[in-house]
Amino acid sequence: MSEPIPPAPPISKWNLLKDGYYSFRANPPKYLPADYPDLTSKTALITGTNTGIGFEVMKLLYSKNCNIIAVVRSAEKGEAAKKEAIEKYPNSKGSISVVGGNDFLDLTTVKPASEEIKLVLGDKPLNIIIHNAGLMAPVNTGTSKQGLEAMFSTNVLGPQLLQHFLDPLFLKKDDDLKRIVWVSSGAHANACFDYGIHWDDPTYEKCTIAERPSPYELYGQSKAANIYQAKAWATKNKEIVDEIGCVSVSCYPGNLKTDLQRGWNPILKRIFNYILWDSIYGAYSELYSALSPDLTVKDQGAYIFPFGEVHAPREDIEAGLKNGTDLRLWDLVEDKIQEFF
Ligand SMILES: NC(=O)c1ccc[n+]([C@@H]2O[C@H](COP(=O)([O-])OP(=O)(O)OC[C@H]3O[C@@H](n4cnc5c(N)ncnc54)[C@H](OP(=O)(O)O)[C@@H]3O)[C@@H](O)[C@H]2O)c1
Repeated sequence: MSEPIPPAPPISKWNLLKDGYYSFRANPPKYLPADYPDLTSKTALITGTNTGIGFEVMKLLYSKNCNIIAVVRSAEKGEAAKKEAIEKYPNSKGSISVVGGNDFLDLTTVKPASEEIKLVLGDKPLNIIIHNAGLMAPVNTGTSKQGLEAMFSTNVLGPQLLQHFLDPLFLKKDDDLKRIVWVSSGAHANACFDYGIHWDDPTYEKCTIAERPSPYELYGQSKAANIYQAKAWATKNKEIVDEIGCVSVSCYPGNLKTDLQRGWNPILKRIFNYILWDSIYGAYSELYSALSPDLTVKDQGAYIFPFGEVHAPREDIEAGLKNGTDLRLWDLVEDKIQEFF
């Protein structure tokens, strides 16, 4: 039987303030497109490529001749983004295949999308997976088709369910480049102080909407969960992960101008635009996580800070990565998603 998990350690407000400030004034990126390897015959699967950071990541990988599997919910938007990427890099020897209809607010759509992914991939190795798609809702009322809190469904349940279908395609000794990036956020600092997760009911199925916490806390919870997922996935698959040399990390891409703030108050959005970074900086963080040779199997579950450096998450989440809380979260999610396998 596993050891009981101790009470969460206290959290330093000073550290929260310091990290908050530092996230807006992060060090410049050191690992840039000129440093990326040629990715001919490599394949990367990225979710949410039609806009924001995912779009920038797709373009940069494609510019390095990578084959992209672009997983989106709207095929039309995905195809428009593909066209733009191809026009920008006409000499790329890579390819972009759009898989549409994958909506994490309806978990029944993930399996059919994964079947299409399998067909597109064929017998090529799958090298990189970036769980980038995400939702930061300005309200706490969002609910998925299955009646689950929207941000937990989109940011946590969806990616873990997709990963379930990708494991048999990915966990193979077929290439030396193997990475998974679980896109998190510095906003995990807004999660509740019990290891970041509302353990009794993280999907808020058992309470009314009025009883839900603020949207900031809900988003924070989902992004704390992403940090756990990166480590738990590597531990659950340790034997094969070590054998194939795969590294699984979470990544806080930065505070960026993207569509993530859609639905925000327009005045607030305009003010924030003065201090937010261009979306390409988020791609630098995600691609440090996906490609940098600095990261090795010793870094399983590392939390990557903007714009490409290893950093500690909030104290209780950091403790949770060492005491099995990550596995507790993984198993809890697994229980919620198995009916969609
Ligand atoms: N921007 C920031 O400052 C910031 C900071 C920290 C972390 N992040 C994280 O970075 C990631 C990318 O965000 P972004 O800033 O690029 O935001 P974005 O511009 O809003 O892009 C989000 C992407 O996720 C997709 N998506 C949203 N809901 C989905 C669902 N239910 N099912 C499938 N796909 C869905 C969107 O597709 P549609 O266009 O169809 O909605 C879009 O492609 C997210 O995980 C976010 O939490 C961003």
